[in-house]
Amino acid sequence: MKKLKIDVVSDVMSSTMKNSIRALAKAALCATVLSAAPSVFADAKTIKDGVFTQAQVDAGAQIYDNACKACHDMRFYRDTLKSWDGQPVLWMWETILGTMPADNPGSLMLEEYTDVVAYILSENGFPVGDTALDPDTNMADINIVAP
Ligand code: HEC
Repeated sequence: MKKLKIDVVSDVMSSTMKNSIRALAKAALCATVLSAAPSVFADAKTIKDGVFTQAQVDAGAQIYDNACKACHDMRFYRDTLKSWDGQPVLWMWETILGTMPADNPGSLMLEEYTDVVAYILSENGFPVGDTALDPDTNMADINIVAP
Protein backbone atom coordinates (compact mmCIF):
# COMPACT_ATOMS: atom_id res chain seq x y z
CA MET A 1 0.00 0.00 0.00
CA LYS A 2 2.77 2.40 0.87
CA LYS A 3 4.48 1.77 -2.45
CA LEU A 4 1.26 2.47 -4.33
CA LYS A 5 0.96 5.87 -2.70
CA ILE A 6 4.53 6.77 -3.61
CA ASP A 7 3.89 5.77 -7.22
CA VAL A 8 0.92 8.09 -7.35
CA VAL A 9 2.95 10.97 -5.96
CA SER A 10 5.78 10.50 -8.43
CA ASP A 11 3.18 10.30 -11.20
CA VAL A 12 1.89 13.69 -10.23
CA MET A 13 5.34 15.23 -10.21
CA SER A 14 6.39 13.97 -13.61
CA SER A 15 3.10 14.57 -15.29
CA THR A 16 1.76 15.92 -18.49
CA MET A 17 -1.76 17.27 -18.17
CA LYS A 18 -3.27 14.01 -19.27
CA ASN A 19 -1.28 12.10 -16.68
CA SER A 20 -2.18 14.46 -13.93
CA ILE A 21 -5.89 13.90 -14.53
CA ARG A 22 -5.22 10.21 -14.26
CA ALA A 23 -3.04 10.59 -11.18
CA LEU A 24 -5.71 12.64 -9.46
CA ALA A 25 -8.28 9.94 -10.11
CA LYS A 26 -5.83 7.40 -8.74
CA ALA A 27 -5.00 9.47 -5.69
CA ALA A 28 -8.66 9.96 -4.84
CA LEU A 29 -9.40 6.30 -5.30
CA CYS A 30 -6.29 5.26 -3.42
CA ALA A 31 -7.32 7.31 -0.40
CA THR A 32 -10.77 5.70 -0.43
CA VAL A 33 -9.41 2.23 -0.84
CA LEU A 34 -6.83 2.66 1.89
CA SER A 35 -9.36 3.79 4.45
CA ALA A 36 -12.22 1.48 3.46
CA ALA A 37 -10.73 -1.87 2.51
CA PRO A 38 -7.01 -2.50 2.93
CA SER A 39 -7.22 -5.99 1.44
CA VAL A 40 -8.98 -4.96 -1.76
CA PHE A 41 -6.05 -5.92 -4.02
CA ALA A 42 -5.58 -9.31 -2.38
CA ASP A 43 -7.05 -11.51 -5.13
CA ALA A 44 -6.86 -9.34 -8.21
CA LYS A 45 -7.92 -10.84 -11.51
CA THR A 46 -6.99 -9.44 -14.89
CA ILE A 47 -9.03 -8.54 -17.95
CA LYS A 48 -7.95 -11.90 -19.42
CA ASP A 49 -10.19 -13.75 -16.96
CA GLY A 50 -13.59 -13.29 -18.66
CA VAL A 51 -14.66 -10.33 -16.56
CA PHE A 52 -17.49 -8.89 -18.69
CA THR A 53 -20.53 -10.37 -20.45
CA GLN A 54 -21.55 -10.60 -24.09
CA ALA A 55 -24.63 -8.51 -23.26
CA GLN A 56 -22.35 -5.70 -22.06
CA VAL A 57 -20.29 -5.93 -25.24
CA ASP A 58 -23.41 -5.75 -27.43
CA ALA A 59 -24.79 -2.76 -25.55
CA GLY A 60 -21.37 -1.10 -25.52
CA ALA A 61 -20.97 -1.40 -29.30
CA GLN A 62 -24.07 0.72 -29.90
CA ILE A 63 -23.06 3.34 -27.36
CA TYR A 64 -19.52 3.40 -28.71
CA ASP A 65 -20.69 4.09 -32.25
CA ASN A 66 -22.77 7.02 -31.05
CA ALA A 67 -20.46 8.56 -28.46
CA CYS A 68 -16.84 7.59 -29.15
CA LYS A 69 -16.25 6.39 -32.69
CA ALA A 70 -15.96 9.86 -34.22
CA CYS A 71 -12.76 10.55 -32.29
CA HIS A 72 -11.07 7.19 -31.61
CA ASP A 73 -10.32 4.13 -33.69
CA MET A 74 -9.57 0.83 -31.95
CA ARG A 75 -5.82 1.18 -32.46
CA PHE A 76 -5.95 4.08 -30.01
CA TYR A 77 -7.11 1.71 -27.25
CA ARG A 78 -4.26 -0.74 -27.75
CA ASP A 79 -1.88 2.05 -26.81
CA THR A 80 -4.20 3.24 -24.05
CA LEU A 81 -4.47 -0.25 -22.54
CA LYS A 82 -0.68 -0.56 -22.69
CA SER A 83 -0.35 2.67 -20.77
CA TRP A 84 -2.74 1.35 -18.08
CA ASP A 85 -0.94 -2.01 -17.79
CA GLY A 86 -1.11 -3.43 -14.24
CA GLN A 87 -3.67 -0.92 -12.97
CA PRO A 88 -7.27 -1.62 -11.91
CA VAL A 89 -9.82 -1.28 -14.69
CA LEU A 90 -11.83 0.87 -12.29
CA TRP A 91 -9.24 3.66 -12.63
CA MET A 92 -9.49 3.70 -16.41
CA TRP A 93 -13.30 3.64 -16.14
CA GLU A 94 -13.18 6.63 -13.78
CA THR A 95 -10.89 8.52 -16.14
CA ILE A 96 -13.20 7.87 -19.08
CA LEU A 97 -16.20 8.84 -16.97
CA GLY A 98 -14.55 12.11 -15.94
CA THR A 99 -13.11 13.13 -19.32
CA MET A 100 -15.05 11.43 -22.16
CA PRO A 101 -16.69 12.03 -24.57
CA ALA A 102 -14.25 14.94 -24.77
CA ASP A 103 -17.01 17.19 -26.15
CA ASN A 104 -19.42 16.30 -23.31
CA PRO A 105 -17.72 14.54 -20.35
CA GLY A 106 -19.92 12.54 -18.00
CA SER A 107 -22.87 12.65 -20.39
CA LEU A 108 -23.46 8.90 -20.46
CA MET A 109 -25.08 6.83 -17.72
CA LEU A 110 -22.66 4.95 -15.45
CA GLU A 111 -23.84 1.66 -16.86
CA GLU A 112 -23.17 2.92 -20.39
CA TYR A 113 -19.56 3.75 -19.50
CA THR A 114 -19.18 0.22 -18.14
CA ASP A 115 -20.65 -1.28 -21.31
CA VAL A 116 -18.31 0.82 -23.46
CA VAL A 117 -15.31 -0.42 -21.47
CA ALA A 118 -16.49 -4.02 -21.96
CA TYR A 119 -16.79 -3.39 -25.70
CA ILE A 120 -13.30 -1.85 -25.90
CA LEU A 121 -11.82 -4.83 -24.03
CA SER A 122 -13.63 -7.27 -26.28
CA GLU A 123 -12.48 -5.50 -29.46
CA ASN A 124 -8.92 -5.73 -28.17
CA GLY A 125 -9.14 -9.51 -27.86
CA PHE A 126 -10.13 -10.07 -24.24
CA PRO A 127 -12.70 -12.82 -23.57
CA VAL A 128 -16.28 -12.57 -22.37
CA GLY A 129 -17.36 -14.47 -19.25
CA ASP A 130 -20.38 -15.06 -17.02
CA THR A 131 -19.99 -12.19 -14.58
CA ALA A 132 -20.74 -8.61 -15.52
CA LEU A 133 -18.16 -5.89 -15.09
CA ASP A 134 -19.42 -3.69 -12.24
CA PRO A 135 -17.76 -0.59 -10.80
CA ASP A 136 -19.45 -1.13 -7.42
CA THR A 137 -18.42 -4.72 -6.84
CA ASN A 138 -15.48 -5.97 -8.89
CA MET A 139 -13.67 -3.42 -11.03
CA ALA A 140 -11.19 -2.38 -8.32
CA ASP A 141 -9.98 -6.00 -8.21
CA ILE A 142 -9.51 -6.50 -11.95
CA ASN A 143 -6.21 -5.32 -13.41
CA ILE A 144 -5.57 -4.20 -16.95
CA VAL A 145 -2.93 -6.06 -18.94
CA ALA A 146 -1.53 -4.85 -22.27
CA PRO A 147 -3.32 -6.40 -25.27
C1 HEC B 1 -14.77 14.91 -29.46
C2 HEC B 1 -13.73 13.90 -29.53
C3 HEC B 1 -13.78 12.76 -28.53
C4 HEC B 1 -14.84 11.92 -28.24
C5 HEC B 1 -16.25 11.95 -28.80
C6 HEC B 1 -14.32 10.93 -27.32
N1 HEC B 1 -13.01 11.18 -27.05
FE1 HEC B 1 -11.77 10.06 -25.88
N2 HEC B 1 -10.26 11.40 -26.11
C7 HEC B 1 -10.34 12.51 -26.92
C8 HEC B 1 -9.09 13.26 -26.79
C9 HEC B 1 -8.76 14.55 -27.51
C10 HEC B 1 -8.30 12.55 -25.85
C11 HEC B 1 -6.90 12.87 -25.35
C12 HEC B 1 -5.96 12.61 -26.48
C13 HEC B 1 -5.01 11.53 -26.23
O1 HEC B 1 -4.83 11.07 -25.09
O2 HEC B 1 -4.39 11.08 -27.25
C14 HEC B 1 -9.06 11.37 -25.47
C15 HEC B 1 -8.58 10.38 -24.63
C16 HEC B 1 -9.27 9.20 -24.34
C17 HEC B 1 -8.75 8.11 -23.56
C18 HEC B 1 -7.38 8.03 -22.91
C19 HEC B 1 -7.52 8.40 -21.45
C20 HEC B 1 -6.27 8.13 -20.67
O3 HEC B 1 -5.85 9.01 -19.92
O4 HEC B 1 -5.71 7.03 -20.78
C21 HEC B 1 -9.71 7.14 -23.53
C22 HEC B 1 -9.63 5.78 -22.85
C23 HEC B 1 -10.84 7.66 -24.26
N3 HEC B 1 -10.53 8.90 -24.74
C24 HEC B 1 -12.02 6.97 -24.41
C25 HEC B 1 -13.16 7.52 -24.99
C26 HEC B 1 -14.45 6.88 -24.95
C27 HEC B 1 -14.74 5.54 -24.33
C28 HEC B 1 -15.32 7.71 -25.60
C29 HEC B 1 -16.81 7.54 -25.75
C30 HEC B 1 -17.57 7.48 -24.51
C31 HEC B 1 -14.55 8.86 -26.06
N4 HEC B 1 -13.25 8.71 -25.66
C32 HEC B 1 -15.07 9.89 -26.80
C33 HEC B 1 -11.39 12.88 -27.76
C34 HEC B 1 -12.63 12.29 -27.77
